[in-house]
Amino acid sequence: MLKINDINVYYGNIHALKGVSLNINPGEIVTLIGANGAGKSTLLKTISGLLKPKTGEILFEDEYVAGKVPQLIVKRGISHVPEGRRVFANMSVEENLELGAFLRKDKKGIREDFEKIYGLFPRLLERRKQLSGTLSGGEQQMLAMGRALMARPRLLLLDEPSMGLAPLLVKTIFRIIEEINQTGTTILLVEQNANMALSIANRAYVIETGKIVASGTAEELGQSDQIRKAYLGGH
Ligand SMILES: Nc1ncnc2c1ncn2[C@@H]1O[C@H](COP(=O)(O)OP(=O)(O)O)[C@@H](O)[C@H]1O
Ligand SMILES: [Mg+2]
Repeated sequence: MLKINDINVYYGNIHALKGVSLNINPGEIVTLIGANGAGKSTLLKTISGLLKPKTGEILFEDEYVAGKVPQLIVKRGISHVPEGRRVFANMSVEENLELGAFLRKDKKGIREDFEKIYGLFPRLLERRKQLSGTLSGGEQQMLAMGRALMARPRLLLLDEPSMGLAPLLVKTIFRIIEEINQTGTTILLVEQNANMALSIANRAYVIETGKIVASGTAEELGQSDQIRKAYLGGH
């Protein structure tokens, strides 16, 4: 579904992604694990068209998308939930969700998706008239995910959805990620919380200072001594 071949991404002189290659098959949950500053967000921003690789290719469903503008990439079927949620604080929950559908014209489909998203996140239904800036961190994460789903993506990019959330909410968010996947959406999940991410993923990649240093099934990586030491608290 997604094929990234040997991309190099720079911020000025900073070489942030160094020959990164990665594949995602339809229906999978793939997780990208790495420490702070490793290049995880840079990779997601490059996939969604916010950054342009200097060299290398990105194919989504056999079409070259590297360097295309973000709107086109959303239209093709990729939605990105950025790190730190970034909801529009002065707009209501419902208005934020409407924005997620701004490229669509199928009114009936949009109405159905509102129902679906409120079914997935009952909290958002209760708070649909509330200003988004007054939501809790967990609720804002739900809203950011709901807004991304309003574009009806086939591939959903999630950047550290568990960041800053209480353990119980982290569990809820991960359960909902699995639910979204089960309804047919493929997922690339970026996380520092490697334990949780490996527990729901099919496959995983590990990134260190801009390079992929390991990959395999979630089970394989979860059992690797090296990975356990570096990312799973060494137990
Ligand atoms: N806008 C930017 N300008 C310059 N350097 C950046 C910028 N954004 C990120 N970087 C650098 O690129 C590297 C990767 O960052 P990032 O992708 O945000 O890492 P992660 O998401 O894994 O924490 C880091 O060294 C970071 O300092
Ligand atoms: Mg990041």
